[in-house]
Amino acid sequence: MEAVVASKPVIKVAAICGSLRKASYNRGLIRTALELTKESIAGIQMEYIDISPLPMLDTDLEVDGKFPSAVEAFRQKILESDSILFASPEYNYSLTAPLKNALDWASRPPNVWADKAAAIVSAGGGFGGARSHYHLRQVGVFLDLHFINKPEFYLNAFQPPAKFDSDGNLIDEDSKERMKQPEFYLNVFQPSAKFDSDGNLLDETSKEKMKQRAMEAVVASKPMIKVAAICGSLRKASNNRGLIRTALELTKESISGIEMEYVDISPLPMLNTDLVVDGKLPPAVEAFRQKILQSDSILFASPEYNYSLTGPLKNALDWGSLSPNVWADKAAAIVSAGGGFGGARSHYHLRQVGVFLDLHFINKPEFYLNAFEPPAKFDSDGNLIDEASKEKMKQVLVALQAFTLRLHQKLSKQITLSFLNSSIATVMNYNLL
Ligand SMILES: Cc1cc2nc3c(=O)[nH]c(=O)nc-3n(C[C@H](O)[C@H](O)[C@H](O)COP(=O)(O)O)c2cc1C
Repeated sequence: MEAVVASKPVIKVAAICGSLRKASYNRGLIRTALELTKESIAGIQMEYIDISPLPMLDTDLEVDGKFPSAVEAFRQKILESDSILFASPEYNYSLTAPLKNALDWASRPPNVWADKAAAIVSAGGGFGGARSHYHLRQVGVFLDLHFINKPEFYLNAFQPPAKFDSDGNLIDEDSKERMKQPEFYLNVFQPSAKFDSDGNLLDETSKEKMKQRAMEAVVASKPMIKVAAICGSLRKASNNRGLIRTALELTKESISGIEMEYVDISPLPMLNTDLVVDGKLPPAVEAFRQKILQSDSILFASPEYNYSLTGPLKNALDWGSLSPNVWADKAAAIVSAGGGFGGARSHYHLRQVGVFLDLHFINKPEFYLNAFEPPAKFDSDGNLIDEASKEKMKQVLVALQAFTLRLHQKLSKQITLSFLNSSIATVMNYNLL
């Protein structure tokens, strides 16, 4: 047993505080995390990375391909880490400027956040900074950060009894206990390869190549994954259902290892918990939930209605969320066709709902298609006729497949570990339900 524990890889976590003030409560949360990782959580090496030396972003400061020295040093720290712990207050319902500035500097090409796991904790007034989590997650899609969904941590710092002392140290024992969980979950995804076999730090191109090879190896090993494809539009000639038909064809003809099934949401009644009688759901709902339960991942193809999810899709999500939540821990991808931005605004709402549902969305590639801009993308039956979009769909499916396998691989490792450390076993079991 000791040998297994000893062989547990050390995850390097960069901890970033979005507040600059000396007695910051959020920096206090990081100090607690640092203590916990030293004293009671094995396998995590955490370092606090100060963002206060960073100048305000101005691309004129980039000279001959070089960043200012404080930025270079910061980017290097992020590059060398496997995952990120963000501890930040909310300013005016969103990210703080210092945090956004740090995110932006490190996103300059090559983006050093790419493919890292991340967790968010926050302390503040009102909802404890929770509203800013969504904005950070939203920015994280483009940065290609993989945020854990659960547990969520936001702490109202001003509600009695006192949670922090006057130096910003966390003194609340319950919150300290809760702080153990997000750190553990930074271990959800495999750290990306950073060193070659001689221990040299890989440059971005070699890293990309290694990632590509790893992905090809996973796909080549061909374990079959089951994907449920859901369309958020009910009309017969729906373009979004057309996207699903393309996906189905691709999985039959040119992508191996994916078994996809279209799951119709039109038979679902509108959610009304009065329809649950003696713990039994209406038969159409039972059948739908069973299909989701049996799948490894989900492909959502939905238009945007009034900048958000469609009613039928939200209804299906809600039925599936009733306890036990059948969406939990599945990988997911979103594709959409519509006017304007091709449905892209609804992606953020779906991702947001997905935090509570515990869905793990792929970040890239993003797929949203303006269906009305010439040349025609769909025929009158809603079949996709645009070749470039078909190619893009293929990339989405391959990314979903790789992400699903990566998630499953990691989860099976977590099950093994759950037998080794009883203090965190409860947390893991919770996530695996
Ligand atoms: C410019 C500004 C805007 C703020 N907006 C919010 C807000 O939208 N929601 C909230 O919960 N607290 C808000 N606060 C209060 C902070 O959450 C609170 O001051 C917190 O303790 C700051 O975190 P720190 O202790 O880590 O510095 C705001 C504070 C500042 C300075």
